[in-house]
Amino acid sequence: MSTAPRFTELRAGGAGDLQTVARLMADSFDPEYGEAWTGGQCLGMLALPGAWLTLAVHDGAVSGFSLSRVIAGDGELLLIAVHPDVRGRGVGAALLRGVIAEARERSAERLHLEVRDGNPATALYRAHGFAQVGRRRDYYRGTSGRARDALTFALPL
Ligand SMILES: CC(C)(COP(=O)(O)OP(=O)(O)OC[C@H]1O[C@@H](n2cnc3c(N)ncnc32)[C@H](O)[C@@H]1OP(=O)(O)O)[C@@H](O)C(=O)NCCC(=O)NCCS
Repeated sequence: MSTAPRFTELRAGGAGDLQTVARLMADSFDPEYGEAWTGGQCLGMLALPGAWLTLAVHDGAVSGFSLSRVIAGDGELLLIAVHPDVRGRGVGAALLRGVIAEARERSAERLHLEVRDGNPATALYRAHGFAQVGRRRDYYRGTSGRARDALTFALPL
């Protein structure tokens, strides 16, 4: 039996991790909802000033990631995902705490995000102090073509 500790570590990621991120995205997002990004979109975002990628290593395997950006005092959580096999064990919360801490370090005054109306991730965001500030009608469109609203959330830092 393995005696390896079971805990989550966060580490900074880079362009060389984007294949891992693409695999995690494919495993984590249901194409029905149209929330995932393409590898090219992630690469393009990571190249922009103020953007950073964080990987969550849980039980020795990369099990989640977040992609965020701070520019001119405004922070945005762009993507967060955890592999379905390890959900409910605090990996998502560890990533979110990391994003909030790093956004503060980067002198952001607010952190924004948008999430599909009905995504259970809204509970995670509310538990960390985010409040809903808006709604974007028909923002997401997945494989079936059905449109779904995005909710916008903000956290003052
Ligand atoms: C959202 C996501 C990142 C959460 O990851 P996770 O590792 O399971 O989250 P945690 O175990 O840290 O959960 C922390 C809190 O989030 C909330 N939460 C997370 N998933 C939830 C679910 N399916 N239903 C209800 N609440 C949930 C709970 O409040 C939970 O607190 P608790 O443990 O005290 O009950 C994960 O479900 C995921 O990857 N989803 C698919 C991708 C996605 O939709 N990302 C968000 C949009 S970019």
